[in-house]
Amino acid sequence: MSKGIEPDAEFPFTPRAYGGPPEAYALRRSGCPLAPVVLPSGDEVLLATTYEDVRDVHADTRFSRNLRYPGAPRMFAGRDIPDDPHALVNMDPPEHTRLRRIVQSAFTPRRAEEWRPRIHEQADRLLDAIAAGSPPIDLLDSYALPLPIHIICRLLGVPDEDSPRFRTWSDVFLSTSTATADERSRAGAEFASYTDGLIADRRRKPRADLLDELINAHDAEDRLSKGELARMVRGLIIAGHETTGHVIGRGVLALLRHPDQLAQLRQEPELLRGAVEEILRTEVPGHGGLLRVATEDLSLPSGGIVPKGRAVLAPVVAANYDPRQFADPDEFDIRRSTESRHLAFGHGPHFCLGANLARVELEVAIGSLVERLPDLALAVPPQGLEWTTGSRICSLVELPVAW
Ligand code: HEM
Repeated sequence: MSKGIEPDAEFPFTPRAYGGPPEAYALRRSGCPLAPVVLPSGDEVLLATTYEDVRDVHADTRFSRNLRYPGAPRMFAGRDIPDDPHALVNMDPPEHTRLRRIVQSAFTPRRAEEWRPRIHEQADRLLDAIAAGSPPIDLLDSYALPLPIHIICRLLGVPDEDSPRFRTWSDVFLSTSTATADERSRAGAEFASYTDGLIADRRRKPRADLLDELINAHDAEDRLSKGELARMVRGLIIAGHETTGHVIGRGVLALLRHPDQLAQLRQEPELLRGAVEEILRTEVPGHGGLLRVATEDLSLPSGGIVPKGRAVLAPVVAANYDPRQFADPDEFDIRRSTESRHLAFGHGPHFCLGANLARVELEVAIGSLVERLPDLALAVPPQGLEWTTGSRICSLVELPVAW
């Protein structure tokens, strides 16, 4: 073990200022790129830190997402994401391939583009309300989170007015220390009974949206089990809004902290796509990427060996700051061309299902905000911003802005 690498280091590491990647990623990458860490559950796993290793772990199906055997490692003690056998992200091929095929047609680039006018409409509606109010406001609460929630509700065909409950439930799920085990299981039961009610209701009154497509896949063709159907609906509601909303919030902050680049973006709107890709590279909230277990002895590009049965954590954020892939990785640069190289959406079979939709949402959210509020500014000094603690994601608690 190289100097400075503690084998019993506790994960997650402390983020740098403004939610930046922990120093420990860079230290390990150059000293000992595949080294143990201890998770909040007390389990010890290997942590990958180079771009090549992280990509390999995500791409290679010999790293399994099935962590449901007795004694399997966990990020957190108690019931958690890997316990659910019906969740897409917990499956390995061929089950994973079967389930993913049922939903992926709703998330192609073409389908995501079809949502662009609706996303614009909703962004404009939220910005009208902001412009009609008086500053300061919390941009996270008034814009960044409601926009993707509205879109995933529309896409699934879920009543928009139920969306505040989704935010409460997802806050509880993502919490690591602020919610008790009881609160987590209560929120889980409430959310499950909500989606069961939604599905039962829709069976009586069908409409033509993704929820109906999923119900048909269960009823008519029996391709989707009852558990998978309910889990897919819950999974899409949570995955569909939380990360995107926080990336929008953190992305706006990154631009406000780099006023020269924000000014360039205003002058040259064609920089928007590159700006969104740079925001994706730098602003994924948390480490990004779930635990995987080696199903045989495997070697990684850095030369590290993962013995059969050993678990690896491969954070996409560590990959996105690898200087061998991204020159001056700590520099936020909207002119950097990173598309298809950063791993913000993961890689391989579990590559984010909603990536195309998220990209359109980010482009519209950032583009409309920049255009509509030319004097947007932080309403507090950036050092005074509060960041989440006790949550699986590293995000702003609020983003107070004026204009
Ligand atoms: C900026 C926003 C987003 C980011 C950064 C993000 C990131 C990710 C990452 C890193 C993974 C892979 C996890 C792993 O393999 O360990 C993933 C998977 C997934 N994401 Fe996203 N995501 C975003 C938005 C969305 C949206 C909008 C949706 C749905 C509408 C979504 C649905 C999913 C689903 C269902 C999976 C599991 C896919 C599978 O297992 O095959 N995500 N996401």
